[in-house]
Amino acid sequence: MVKVRPLRGDDIATSSRIHLEVLDAEFLARCGGAFLRCYQRAWVESPDGIALAAIDEGGRVVGALLGAIRPESHFRAMVLRHGPALAFWLLAQAVTHPRLARELVATRALRYVRGLLRMLDATATGLDATAIALDGTGQPRVGEVTHLMVRADARGSGVGRALLQEARRAAQGADLDELVLVTPPDLASRGFYEHLGWQCGGALTSRSGEQFVRYRWALRT
Ligand SMILES: CC(C)(COP(=O)(O)OP(=O)(O)OC[C@H]1O[C@@H](n2cnc3c(N)ncnc32)[C@H](O)[C@@H]1OP(=O)(O)O)[C@@H](O)C(=O)NCCC(=O)NCCS
Repeated sequence: MVKVRPLRGDDIATSSRIHLEVLDAEFLARCGGAFLRCYQRAWVESPDGIALAAIDEGGRVVGALLGAIRPESHFRAMVLRHGPALAFWLLAQAVTHPRLARELVATRALRYVRGLLRMLDATATGLDATAIALDGTGQPRVGEVTHLMVRADARGSGVGRALLQEARRAAQGADLDELVLVTPPDLASRGFYEHLGWQCGGALTSRSGEQFVRYRWALRT
């Protein structure tokens, strides 16, 4: 029987290994183990993030979920608090992996720098885009699931479902209207999400040029 609880600092060595193994095609995983440990720590420390661990009967971490209750403020806090360390590990990996370095320059570097400058400017002038969005009338309150990973040898026994159900409880507890996620169009997990009641919202091309399919999970019945 799997148990789901908040992801803790002492889980990160294991959960980032699972991240590397399970989501190996993802850009973030290509940024290496040290980057991922730092990345997951940012989630664990975020008041607006969702970071969950699935624990098996032997006490082992067999899966994890990362997401956010308030995505904008979560990502802003992550960049402000952990940005320098994340940038360090990303550059350290790029120096030793020329293919990653080329990909970084071609698809992300300029956007990351512009985003950082915009964020610093908004912080300096006291503008809080999240507060504006959440206080706006009639705006749906939307959280997101960004990473879901279950160890290969633990799949098919309810771990993924248990992680998503706990994320759903957290999102409902925060009075959100829906959860959203994106997944590559060719991934088998699409069938999993649809089986659990997520609705496909069409195709999407990220600003880095990757193809995704969007899904949403309504939280109010
Ligand atoms: C997708 C993933 C998270 C599913 O986790 P899991 O623990 O194996 O799934 P569960 O055992 O909780 O399955 C729950 C239900 O979904 C069904 N299901 C699982 N995978 C499915 C699939 N690919 N298509 C259709 N149904 C699926 C199961 O049969 C089960 O149904 P039931 O309980 O009604 O009998 C896991 O396979 C995984 O980590 N895959 C690799 C990483 C990945 O793709 N992550 C998502 C990236 S966005």
